Amino acid sequence: MLTLTINKQDYQFDTLDPRTTLLDVCRHHLQITGPKKGCDHGQCGACTMLINGRRINSCLALAVMHDGDDITTIEGIGMPDSLSDLQQAFKDHDAFQCGYCTPGQICSATALIDEIKQNWPSYVTTDLQQPDGLLVQEISERMSGNLCRCSAYPNIIKAIHQVLSEQLSDESSVSNNLASANSESTVSGIWSPPPSETQLGKQPTAQSKSSKTKGERS
Ligand code: FES
Ligand code: FES
Repeated sequence: MLTLTINKQDYQFDTLDPRTTLLDVCRHHLQITGPKKGCDHGQCGACTMLINGRRINSCLALAVMHDGDDITTIEGIGMPDSLSDLQQAFKDHDAFQCGYCTPGQICSATALIDEIKQNWPSYVTTDLQQPDGLLVQEISERMSGNLCRCSAYPNIIKAIHQVLSEQLSDESSVSNNLASANSESTVSGIWSPPPSETQLGKQPTAQSKSSKTKGERS
């Protein structure tokens, strides 16, 4: 028998097809419809859920692999009468339009905040000893697995930045770093890759011609 613990509630299955994804179990078997099916190929992030606090694409996860895990969907993060800080910030910053990607964005951002609190580096982190998670390019890179067809990215980043800076300021362990991070980090729009050597007026070297600039997306 398979037991899935979703939003603190146990669901048991005797005859679930082992090929069923976690996303389909939620949406089709349990009517937990917060997680959305966008691409069904692990590319858009609309189906993002938390498994033991870590974010995953549930369209790529077989339900049978998560027997006993702590699974959280957007319904477990907050409901209309009990919004989480991030949900409230998305509302305050107008960080969605059609809202289809929003459950995945908020689940992803919830895990992102924990990752930053644990000083996990990202692809664009330059100081591995002290990643500055408040930088716009850090938030943008860490949210790059969640696409928004309405292109609400600037306000999504503003909402995450606000909650992240508030929560970091509450953490005494990072209080010393926060003052400089806050003063240096501003939210002025979505992040762009750093300028190339040509844009900077330099002649590209042979090595830089063949390799990607750090931070450049493929
Ligand atoms: S539906 Fe899972 S990543 Fe797009
Ligand atoms: S708000 Fe419409 S897809 Fe993101």
